[in-house]
Amino acid sequence: NCSLNTTTNHLRHVESMAVLPSGAGKIPRLNAVILGEALASEEDDLVFPSDDFARQALLPSAQKYLEMYKRSVEDPAGFWSDIASQFLWKSKWGDTVCSENFDIRNGNVYVQWFKGGITNICYNCLDRNVDSGNGDKIAFHWEGNERGFHDSLTYTQLLSQVCQVANYLRDIGVKKGDAVVIYLPMLMELPIAMLACARIGAVHSVVFAGFSADSLAQRIMDCKPKVVLTCNAVKRGSKVIHLKDIVDAALIGHSMVGQSAVLHIAYSFGILTYKKTPLVSKDVVPTYSTICEVEWVDAEDPLFLLYTSGSTGKPKGVLHTTGGYMVYTATTFKYAFDYKPSDIYWCTADCGWITGHSYVTYGPLLNGATVVIYEGAPNYPDPGRCWDIVDKFKVTIFYTAPTLVRSLMRDGDAYVTRYSRKSLRVLGSVGEPINPSAWRWFFNVVGDSRCPISDTWWQTETGGFMIAPLPGAWPQKPGSATFPFFGVQPVIVDEKGVEIEGECSGYLCVKSSWPGTFRTLYGDHERYETTYFKPFPGYYFSGDGCSRDKDGYYWLTGRVDDVINVSGHRIGTAEVESALVSHPQCAEAAVVGVEHEVKGQGIYAFVTLVDGIPYSEELRRNLITTVRNQIGPFAAPDRIHWAPGLPKTRSGKIMRRILRKIASRQLDELGDTSTLADPGVVDQLIALADC
Ligand code: WTA
Repeated sequence: NCSLNTTTNHLRHVESMAVLPSGAGKIPRLNAVILGEALASEEDDLVFPSDDFARQALLPSAQKYLEMYKRSVEDPAGFWSDIASQFLWKSKWGDTVCSENFDIRNGNVYVQWFKGGITNICYNCLDRNVDSGNGDKIAFHWEGNERGFHDSLTYTQLLSQVCQVANYLRDIGVKKGDAVVIYLPMLMELPIAMLACARIGAVHSVVFAGFSADSLAQRIMDCKPKVVLTCNAVKRGSKVIHLKDIVDAALIGHSMVGQSAVLHIAYSFGILTYKKTPLVSKDVVPTYSTICEVEWVDAEDPLFLLYTSGSTGKPKGVLHTTGGYMVYTATTFKYAFDYKPSDIYWCTADCGWITGHSYVTYGPLLNGATVVIYEGAPNYPDPGRCWDIVDKFKVTIFYTAPTLVRSLMRDGDAYVTRYSRKSLRVLGSVGEPINPSAWRWFFNVVGDSRCPISDTWWQTETGGFMIAPLPGAWPQKPGSATFPFFGVQPVIVDEKGVEIEGECSGYLCVKSSWPGTFRTLYGDHERYETTYFKPFPGYYFSGDGCSRDKDGYYWLTGRVDDVINVSGHRIGTAEVESALVSHPQCAEAAVVGVEHEVKGQGIYAFVTLVDGIPYSEELRRNLITTVRNQIGPFAAPDRIHWAPGLPKTRSGKIMRRILRKIASRQLDELGDTSTLADPGVVDQLIALADC
C-alpha cells in the first residue's frame, strides 16, 4: 500500500504549481503530471512526495526542475560554469567550457570540459572542507564485517592519512600520469588509496577484490601500473580471502610491475590472525609526513581507469578525467539524494565498481558528507544487519541495488521491522531495473512509506546519474527512473537510428556530452568509437533498451547487447564463454542471461564438449569452478546446459534468440527455426533441458 498515493495529496501538489511556460521544446513532458492529466488514467501508479518532504527539498517542485533543466540544455556552458565555480581551481578554464564532437560522421569523437582549468579533486574533497571549518566533521564511519568492529575518521584525519599514502607513493617513484592498481576490500584504506593517487596526479585503477588472479592479471597487463596496492587478507562473511596471494599469482611473469606494496591494515578482523603471507614491504605508511603538497592538474588530465565488461572477452578500460567528473558527481549526488549537511549517507556498493567511485568516494566527499563504509556482506550474520547499521549510525540516505532489496524481501519483514530506521529519509537504487514489487517493499517496509526512492540510471561510462528522480520535485512511478538529470538529453531511437518522439520503446541514446562523460577506452579509442558512437551515428549509445510513457517517464528495460546484469554486476557473456572454453574438455560455449528472482539475471551456459567426452556431474562442477577461478565467484554460471550441438545459421552464427527462449523455457516462442543449419539441434536441446 503506497499510502502517499492519494488524490488529496496530489491535488495539493498540483495546486502549488504554476502552469508551465509553453514552447519548452524537448523539455521533459512533466506537464501532464503537474496539471493532473496523468491521474486520469487508471494504470498510473503515482507516488507523491509527502508535503513535509517537498517543503524541505532542495528542488521542491517540477516547475523549478524544468527551469533549471531548460537552462542546462540551452546554455550548458553557463549552467555548468556557475556550478564549477563553487570548487577550488588554481586557475580557471579557458573561454570554451565544453568542446566536443559526439557525431562520428563529423570525424573523431572527443569530449572536453573546463579544458585549461587547473584543479585537484582530492584537494576539493578534503582540504577545501577542512579549510571551510569542517575539519572535525566525520568523513567516514567504518563498520567491520564482525559486529563491534568499527572506526571513524574526521575530514582532518582523513586528509592526514591520504597525505601519508600520497607521500609514500611519491617516495617509491609514482609520478603524475602513472597508473596505480588498487586491489583492496572495503576498508577505509581503499578510498584513502584512491584519494592519495588523485592528490599526486596518479591514475588509479581499482580492481574489485572479488576478481580472480587471472582477471587481475589481465587488467594489470593492460594498464601497466607502477604499483599494486593490496592487503594480505580480508574476512567476508565467515570466509577469509587471501588477497595478497591472489596478487602474487597475478604478478607472476609480469615484470613491468615495479613493486607491490602492502598497506597497513589495522582494523580488519581476521587480518591479525592470518599471517601466512609475508608482506612485501613492511608497514611504512604511518612513518610518512601527514602533509603532502598537491599536484595541480588540468581538468582534462586523467583521474582514473575502471575496467568494465563489454561484448567481447576483453574488458574495457573506461577513462574519466578530473574536472568534468568532479563537477558532475558532486552535483548529481547533491540533487538526486536531496543532500543536506546534516545527512549520514550509506551506499552499499564496493569501491571496485563505478558506484563506489562516484557515490562512496568523490560525490559525497565533494559535498562534505559523512559516509558510512561497510566491509562485510549485507546479510551477515543475519538479514537484519543493514538496519542494524542504519540505526547505529543514524543513516539518513541509504543507497543500494535491487538485488539486495529482493533478497532481503525474501527473508521477511521481521528482520526489518525489529529495527527503528526512523533516521532514514531518502532511499536509492542502482545497477539494474528495480521491479515494481521490490520498489514497493523498499518504499513501504524499509522506508515506512515515508522516504522517496531515487532510482538512478547510469553507467560506468557516464560517470554519474543520467536519469533519476529528484526527490521532492515530482511524483514517482515504481520501476521508472523518471526524468533526465540536468544537462542530459536522452533520446530513444529505432533500429535504424531514427529518433522516436513521445510514447515509445527503443534503444536509449544520448545526444551531446555532459561533464561526467568518459573520454575514451584506455589505449583503444577506436573501440570507444565503434562500441558507443557507430551503432547510431550522432549519438552515444548506452547499450540499454528503454521506453517512455505518455507522461514522459523513462523505463529502463535492460541491456540489448551481449552484456548481462547479475546482482547489479555487469558481465559480458563473451567473458564467461571464454572462461568455459579454456577448460580442456569444453569445445564451445554460448552464454545467455535468464530471469532470476534475486539476482535480476542469472547466467545460463550452453556447453558443447570435446568429441568423446561424456557429460557428468563432476564435469559440470569443474566447469563452474573454471569460471570462478578465471573471472571471480560472482560470475559463476547458475546453470550449465549440455548441448551436443548449438543452433547455428548456415554461416555459422549462433542464434542466441533461440537459446534465450530455451533457457527461459518459453518453448512455444522459439520462432522461425528453418534458417538453422541443423534444425534438429533445437529438439535435442529441449530434450536435454532438465538433465
Ligand atoms: C544497468 C552501474 C535500470 C543498465 C552504475 C546499465 C540500470 C548498466 C540502472 C550499467 C537503473 C544501472 N535502472 N538499469 N537504475 N542502473 N543499470 O556500468 O543496464 O556497472 O547499462 O554501472 O546497469 O552498469 P555499470
